[in-house]
Amino acid sequence: MNPDDQQAIYGIIGNPLQHSLSPVMHNAAFKALKVDAVYKAFPLETHELSDFFSALKSEDSPIFGLNVTVPYKEKVLEYLDGLAPLAQKIGAVNTIVITNNRTLTGYNTDAPGFIAHLNELKFNTAGADVCILGAGGSTRAILTALCIIPERPSSIRIFNRTPQKANQLVEQLGKAMSVDIVEVVDNVAALDIRYADLLINTTPVGMNDDDPVLIEPEVLHADLLVYDLIYNPKETLLLQMAKKKGARTANGLGMLYYQGVLAFQRWAGLELDEKVKNIMRQALQRAAESL
Ligand code: ATR
Repeated sequence: MNPDDQQAIYGIIGNPLQHSLSPVMHNAAFKALKVDAVYKAFPLETHELSDFFSALKSEDSPIFGLNVTVPYKEKVLEYLDGLAPLAQKIGAVNTIVITNNRTLTGYNTDAPGFIAHLNELKFNTAGADVCILGAGGSTRAILTALCIIPERPSSIRIFNRTPQKANQLVEQLGKAMSVDIVEVVDNVAALDIRYADLLINTTPVGMNDDDPVLIEPEVLHADLLVYDLIYNPKETLLLQMAKKKGARTANGLGMLYYQGVLAFQRWAGLELDEKVKNIMRQALQRAAESL
């Protein structure tokens, strides 16, 4: 972290950022560790990125680490000096580490963050049958994670409103890893959720009260874990329906927490102890309650 007396600044770039929970989580960690640093939100327009990154390279910049969120996780690659192998495979960065000599390295902690949450839920990915709704940035990280872990699922089916986008995504990821377990289906029924162990919603459908549910509720069953990346509302209609069918459910707050812990550990170059991690998690949960 910052060697000088100047207060170190960390932060998140993205747009919009009004509802970002990252500042609360990271500032809670700085406070718990008694580190004189602050985590800020930097809502940037695309045309502001270039100047922002030029300033980051300056010797007297107080910024020592960043998170990156929608819509810049892929765009920032062009401003970085290097990429960790996982970020390279995924083609997206959510964490930037900045060294004292102003070298910018991109990491992806979304992918391991998702797996860490599945582990906490004691979901066994090995040989699992997985269905994914959506084919955007989150799917990119999740799919990579599931394809490269040793405990690989046996099958992953993806349905996206725009099937070409799902095909393109799989084709692109296939250049960096084996995607032999992945199949893009062109209608929601072909997801065969009846046979699945895990259903993941990566679309924003469910954020609004009047949003539909993208699947037929009848296919939900008690042996399923339904993972909705949405955490506001805490329980989407999809999760409510899944619960009624006796399925286990999880929202995206766990993944947000783990990607944050992993990002913080990258910046600090150390493992956080359980006490600090709990403080981060509680801060996150409290902030999520008041959204
Ligand atoms: P994220 O980074 O959170 O994954 P994203 O990259 O914008 O966000 O991806 C959003 C995904 O949700 C996309 O797969 C998108 O489908 P398209 O590829 O067809 O755009 C999907 N999505 C967004 N709104 C949707 C809707 N109303 N119905 C179904 N899918 C939707």
